[in-house]
Amino acid sequence: MRSDNSLFRRKTIAAILQNPPADHEGPGGGLERHLTVRDLTGLGIAAIIGAGIFSTIGKASLDGGPAVSMLFVFTAVACAFSALCYAQFAATIPVSGSAYTYAYASFGELAAWIIGWALIMEYTVGNIVVAISWSDYFTSLMDGIGWHIPAYLSTGAQGAYQGYAAVVALMEAHLPLAQATPAQLEGYKIWNSAPVLFGDWHLVADVPAFGITVLITCLVYIGIKESKYASNLLVVLKLIVVAVVIAVGAFYIKPANWHPFAPHGVGGVLKGVSAVFFAYIGFDAISTTAEECKNPQRDLPRAMMYALIICTVLYVVITLVLTGMVSYTELGVGDPLSFVFAKVGLPRLSGLVAVSAVFAMASVLLVFQLGQPRIWLTMARDGLLPKVFTHIHPRFHTPSFATIITGIFVGVPALILNMDLVVDLTSIGTLFAFALVCGGILIIDPYGRSEARFTVPYLNGKWLVITILVIGGALLWHYNQAEVRTFAHLASFGEGYEGFRHQIPMLVFLLFCGGLAVVSFQKSLSLLPTLGLLINLYLMTQLGISNWVLFFIWLLIGLVVYFGYGYKHSRLGQAGAPVAS
Ligand code: ALA
Repeated sequence: MRSDNSLFRRKTIAAILQNPPADHEGPGGGLERHLTVRDLTGLGIAAIIGAGIFSTIGKASLDGGPAVSMLFVFTAVACAFSALCYAQFAATIPVSGSAYTYAYASFGELAAWIIGWALIMEYTVGNIVVAISWSDYFTSLMDGIGWHIPAYLSTGAQGAYQGYAAVVALMEAHLPLAQATPAQLEGYKIWNSAPVLFGDWHLVADVPAFGITVLITCLVYIGIKESKYASNLLVVLKLIVVAVVIAVGAFYIKPANWHPFAPHGVGGVLKGVSAVFFAYIGFDAISTTAEECKNPQRDLPRAMMYALIICTVLYVVITLVLTGMVSYTELGVGDPLSFVFAKVGLPRLSGLVAVSAVFAMASVLLVFQLGQPRIWLTMARDGLLPKVFTHIHPRFHTPSFATIITGIFVGVPALILNMDLVVDLTSIGTLFAFALVCGGILIIDPYGRSEARFTVPYLNGKWLVITILVIGGALLWHYNQAEVRTFAHLASFGEGYEGFRHQIPMLVFLLFCGGLAVVSFQKSLSLLPTLGLLINLYLMTQLGISNWVLFFIWLLIGLVVYFGYGYKHSRLGQAGAPVAS
């Protein structure tokens, strides 16, 4: 028997479907099948509607104005293409592991590892964002009912220390404190007010963020059935409140607030890419529960599309309502949905929205805490992570060890970190995963001939890809001339390397577009996955070079782990494993 040492060794779909080997999962046996299409749609909505619409939409509206509603439509289209590809994969390979498993069958092991590593950014880093955001809402709610949680117990040490250090630097340089931002001054105050233990250790930690993570981890540990009931309940509650926001808010719309529609042009709207995309993350998470679905091939594709459609409609309407109720210039707050009602003189409704945000975000946490362990479980089954990650609890039938590790990986950073960085990292990691899933469909089924129970509808991309690229380019040229001029200036070394490096992602993207247009012309590739791939990559180019650098550092760490452990222990690399030819 031979062993395959190639980095591109691929699993056959038949081999993936043979997993899981019961002997690898201890006395607990496999996972239990409880989820129906309704549960799955519920899980999708539970994962999607959260910190994005309750929080980060505020800053996006400030930058882009009412036209951010159009960014929601555009981003939904990108997500829909990706969802179609996810759905085809989910129908073809209905096992846990999501994009990681799909990449294993299409690109091979190295890419699968990379995507699995990127998914940690989506699920674990994304949940750090949600836990921190949850803590903000929770703390202000507690304040509202008279229970004050000291700021040093509800703030991440990193943010507070950065603020403290910035203010101390100003003081030492004898500069006016007015030069510090309000957040830095706040950080300084919190750091100084914190109790000091063991000589010089300042007790600053986001305890509510840690607490909610522990609570949700316990729920997910106990069982999929319990998690399903909790998630369905939270979703109903969340949808009712969103409906109330829309119905009541509609009466307070002043159409004058919609003028100008795009005050800072296309460039301003595109500043919201990360926040708006973050709001959609989650529809893919339901594919991680494939082994717990009653009929995954039929139900997963449907549930993903239902969840995405419902959320898109809600998002677009909510954005129009928000920006219609108050001027976009006032929306740069962390709790825009409750803020607008306080602003129009409805404090009770404002309070109700704040309460619902606490529930909404808890349900996002729930689904992502459910998803991450299942991805690790699948990676460990393949030998890319230690075998202990495959352990299934004998009584609860959940991946118990992986669940606890997920809890620690989310809870501990949530105690310490601040939010800005983690939002962008989540978006870039997820867009990358989506792009690879679209690319994966182009590899396993470029002409839409698969016999899976769901396939992405085939449209011949021969002429259409080029035509759409030309039209898209012309529209950007027309509506975003300032950005195009800046791009041309910097890309031609107008300000030396410092300016040029910011344009690297866009230049690489343009080259990639050209290449893909040629291949698609030659091979008549399927249009929708091709467009999905391009749109996801385009959105990635909008996320700023510093995020790209961090993303690459993250990938590099992943490669070190892979070559240090996974490559050697991979089951596929072992003699006799069924490798795709
Ligand atoms: N879409 C999820 C949220 O907005 C991640 O919280």
